[in-house]
Amino acid sequence: MEFLRNCWYMAGWSEELPAGALLSRTFLEQPVVLFRRQDGAPVALLDRCPHRVAPLSRGTLAGDTLRCIYHGLRFDAHGRCVENPHGAIPAKASVPAFPMAERDGVLWIWMGTPDAADTARVPDLGHMARVPATAQSRGAMPSACHYQLIVDNVADLSHVEYLHATTLGGGAFVENRPVVSEQGTEVVIELRSQGQPAPPVYDRFLPQPGVPVDFVNRVTWYPAGLLKLDISVTPMGAPPEQGLRTFNAHIVTPETRTSSHYWYWLTREYRQDDEDMTRLRHALMTRVFVEEDKPVIEAQQRLLGTADLFDAQPVLLATDTGSIRIRRVLKQLLAQEGGPAA
Ligand code: FES
Ligand SMILES: [Fe+2]
Repeated sequence: MEFLRNCWYMAGWSEELPAGALLSRTFLEQPVVLFRRQDGAPVALLDRCPHRVAPLSRGTLAGDTLRCIYHGLRFDAHGRCVENPHGAIPAKASVPAFPMAERDGVLWIWMGTPDAADTARVPDLGHMARVPATAQSRGAMPSACHYQLIVDNVADLSHVEYLHATTLGGGAFVENRPVVSEQGTEVVIELRSQGQPAPPVYDRFLPQPGVPVDFVNRVTWYPAGLLKLDISVTPMGAPPEQGLRTFNAHIVTPETRTSSHYWYWLTREYRQDDEDMTRLRHALMTRVFVEEDKPVIEAQQRLLGTADLFDAQPVLLATDTGSIRIRRVLKQLLAQEGGPAA
């Protein structure tokens, strides 16, 4: 499947782009150079000088402009050439600029039609940004696979019971079926279980381990690469305040057709001043992602080659409903985008 262009993709964490830095990253097969204007606003330009195709990220910043290292053409934050040391500025001397936004400590880039960039649609992760620093952690796991395989992985958490049997599994994801719904262009995959023990990672933190709980695991997908997780574990019949709730995000941006930027953000609403728990939880989840999910997803990609998963005509299970709905919405959005991307 082609990449959706008219949506906000995560470009990095805010602190990955300090003032004065030039950061080179590839998004949707396009090399991009990121920097900040003097007022702090993030800027993204195609990382490719229109003269002899040198990477602009090797150049130098001068105020709000970027000078190419090779023959000195200088470009402003809109990609317009503002100086040619060798004569008049050629009419074609400009580089594409990509709209950017910054919210809740996250840099977002719009790889589609610049005029269509809608700042009202910049994802809202404020509920996580407001969690005290002692109860949140963030990580990155660049992966050698198409971003959709990562979305599939989070959209179908039944794999928890097998791939993560000894780390996260507990039975809830095979004994119950998720309910999938659409809200506009978002897809919500909600799994509920009642009266069963909590998954082991939560059980030991309950006031009374082993008690039957109400378990809700809600995954919301936003086009094209944002998955928000809202998980709550509450002793049966107890008010929600007595339960354990976590908000997590998995954010994936295509780098190429076979590689992805992958960031995760973990926050917790309980024991928020317990930094040891934050460290332990981060270490556990990182180990699960890096040692359990990543090797399987990357191996899937190697077996698929450059084919899309659905070109391989996979056998479908009841647990695939979420990822199928996501692909259906994506297909509709791609068709709306029209042009060669569809
Ligand atoms: S390649 Fe950039 S100025 Fe020549
Ligand atoms: Fe997993």
